[in-house]
Amino acid sequence: MPEDFVHAEFTLGTLDLADLAADPIEQFSKWYQDVQKAGITEYPAMTLATCSAAGRPAARIVYLRGFDARGFAFYTNYDSRKGEEIGQNPWASLCFYWKELERQIRIEGRVEKVSEQESDDYFAGRPLNNQLGAWASSQSGTLESPAALNARVEEFRQRFAGQPIPRPPHWGGYRVVPDRIEFWQGRPSRLHDRFAYVQSANGDWAVSRLFP
Ligand SMILES: Cc1cc2nc3c(=O)[nH]c(=O)nc-3n(C[C@H](O)[C@H](O)[C@H](O)COP(=O)(O)O)c2cc1C
Repeated sequence: MPEDFVHAEFTLGTLDLADLAADPIEQFSKWYQDVQKAGITEYPAMTLATCSAAGRPAARIVYLRGFDARGFAFYTNYDSRKGEEIGQNPWASLCFYWKELERQIRIEGRVEKVSEQESDDYFAGRPLNNQLGAWASSQSGTLESPAALNARVEEFRQRFAGQPIPRPPHWGGYRVVPDRIEFWQGRPSRLHDRFAYVQSANGDWAVSRLFP
């Protein structure tokens, strides 16, 4: 079967405004279920763009680790470059691209830390070596050599031997609380479908079709 037709079940037919959920998180959830059903690997990978206080943007990939009505959560080192930028400027943007379904989702909003309890719970469920890595890595700092990182991992392995590893104070989750979410569905001849949900001050969402 030609690759173009593999995911026709999800991509055939022009999308209509009436096909979309009134709530963008619900619409996100539908598309997120579709990528899982389609067997797409690395579907939780998303570009996270942050911006320094001086207005200089930086982007990198992180994994989506949860979403609900409050927003979209990822986990990282709070002292990393992204953590510092979020500290200076709490606005961020997320972008997913799932090539096999010709879909893109762009999310914009304010970033907040998830609760200590949510970070603790998430950390407790990580594999041991990931937990040690979170202690050992001064993410985004200069590293002398791979051996120096290994030595730090072993140091923390010994320090926490025989006990549950606590979450490092510098490590935890952030949530992007969206106020704009855009859905893009690729179509032949560049007649793509594009819809933007924009939140008004009273919290209601309005959705409109955009030129592609
Ligand atoms: C597929 C993929 C998934 C990643 N997931 C995460 C993640 O969930 N959290 C994280 O801190 N870094 C993740 N990274 C590493 C980041 O892209 C980045 O290198 C790191 O967070 C440092 O970014 P910063 O210096 O801008 O803070 C991931 C990288 C890739 C390629």
